[in-house]
Order: sequence, then C-alpha cells, then structure tokens
Amino acid sequence: MNLLILGRGKTGSLVAEVAVERQHDVRTAGAKENAACAALAPQKLRDIDAVIDFTAPHCVIAHIEACVRSGKNMVVGTTGWYGEEHAELDRIRRLVEQHGTGFMYAANFSVGVNLFFDAARAAAAALRQGYSGQIFERHHVHKKDAPSGTALAIQRVIREASAQSENLEITSFREGEVVGLHEVVLESPNDRIYLCHDAKSRRGFAEGAVRAAEWLAGKKGFYDFKDVWREL
Ligand SMILES: NC(=O)c1ccc[n+]([C@@H]2O[C@H](COP(=O)([O-])OP(=O)(O)OC[C@H]3O[C@@H](n4cnc5c(N)ncnc54)[C@H](OP(=O)(O)O)[C@@H]3O)[C@@H](O)[C@H]2O)c1
Repeated sequence: MNLLILGRGKTGSLVAEVAVERQHDVRTAGAKENAACAALAPQKLRDIDAVIDFTAPHCVIAHIEACVRSGKNMVVGTTGWYGEEHAELDRIRRLVEQHGTGFMYAANFSVGVNLFFDAARAAAAALRQGYSGQIFERHHVHKKDAPSGTALAIQRVIREASAQSENLEITSFREGEVVGLHEVVLESPNDRIYLCHDAKSRRGFAEGAVRAAEWLAGKKGFYDFKDVWREL
C-alpha cells in the first residue's frame, strides 16, 4: 500500500518503521510540512491508499476532515479529540458515511490492551457484587492529554458492562518515560482484584495501526479497533 503517516514523533516514527518492514511504500509528514493541512491537499493524496495519524489533539480533527473529504481511508491513533460523551465521534461517523470512506480509530491500537478491555469487561461484574473500583494510569511526562484515552475507554467498558451509572474514578500519573501502564483495582471487604497492563514499548501500537490500515483496504465505514482487532 501507499501510506501517508502524519506525525514523526515517538509513535508516528515507529509506525513508519513497521510499515516499511511490512513492505508498504511510506511517505511521512510532520508539523512543518503539514501546516494548515498542506500534506493533505487532494493532489498530494492522489496516490495514497490510506493516511495514518499519530499527531496531536489540536490538529487531528482538521486532518480527519481533509482526508475524508478527499475520499481517503484513514487510521487515527491520536487521542484526546472525541469530546464530552463522544460528540465529535458521532459527527465524524456521519462525515465518513456521507463520503463513503473507510475510517478506523482506537483509544489504543495494541492487541494486548484490547484483550485487557475484555478482562475489564468480565471483571466489571464485581461492581454488582458490592465491590468498589478505581482506575490508575501512568504515562511519560510529555503526554498532552489526561486521563489517557485508554483509561477513558476502560472506564466506559466497565460502566457499560456493569450497567452502573457512576464512572470509576481515574487517577493519572505523569512520570519519566513510562510508555503506558493501566491498572483496574476492584476492592471488597474480603479481597482485592488487580488487573494491570504494562506496555514495554510503542511497537504494539505501531503494529496494530499498520495492520488496521491493511484491514481497512477496500472497505467503507466507521470502525473502532476494539471491535475488529480479532479479525486482523
Ligand atoms: N491509539 C494508540 O494506540 C496510541 C498510542 C500511542 C500514542 N497515541 C496518541 O498519538 C498521539 C501522538 O503520540 P506521540 O507519543 O507519538 O506524540 P509525539 O511524540 O509528541 O508526536 C506527535 C508528533 O505530531 C507532529 N505533529 C503535530 N502537529 C502536526 C500536524 N499538523 N501535522 C503533522 N504532524 C504534526 C509533531 O511534530 P513536530 O515534532 O514537528 O511538532 C510530533 O512529532 C497522541 O495523541 C497520543 O495520545 C495513541
């Protein structure tokens, strides 16, 4: 595939590396080349099969609008843009449907974290058995959003699975170069349950995002990676 990767930061650069290893032709654009979405002008996208975005919350919506309007498939790893109650997601879903493109986003593109969502979904039954719960997340000091998109996704999964109206409290820590650590702690007077996912590197995110772009080839529609990762 011909892939355009937006963002040459910690994750975007690894996405480019993985995409080359998987035999794709890769073009990249950082903040400078893509000022005012310059890298997404229709003539620049002519040969591109899919765009993968690992940039920043302040610019990602403009990138999505430009790609979708140009009819290009897109994989969005950038977090922190969905808005309260996912209002932006609904608007983007409609835009994608209107333009007949393929779109995939994820709070987390790692297969391991998506397995962790399933474990959290199963453990949510504890909240109907008198347990209380908390979510903890740790990331490097450069991370721009807090709580992390992954912690919010865990919170949502647990709320929906437990049919409780209250969200579990999320506590965020920013320290050193921690790649991403998420914990769910469920507590009763009798015992304590710990679920923990600790990312060793960013490679899991990068592989998931490239495999998502491959899966999306030739497809239309709006997808969340957590619903399709088993099919990759
Ligand atoms: N969903 C997932 O699995 C997952 C995993 C990891 C990270 N993320 C998310 O991905 C995003 C990036 O994370 P990161 O750790 O890679 O951050 P990062 O190291 O800060 O990289 C972000 C990069 O985006 C570039 N950028 C900013 N504005 C741009 C624009 N308009 N066009 C093109 N590039 C632009 C920046 O370029 P300059 O350096 O030139 O300014 C920077 O290199 C964050 O939102 C993070 O939460 C998601």
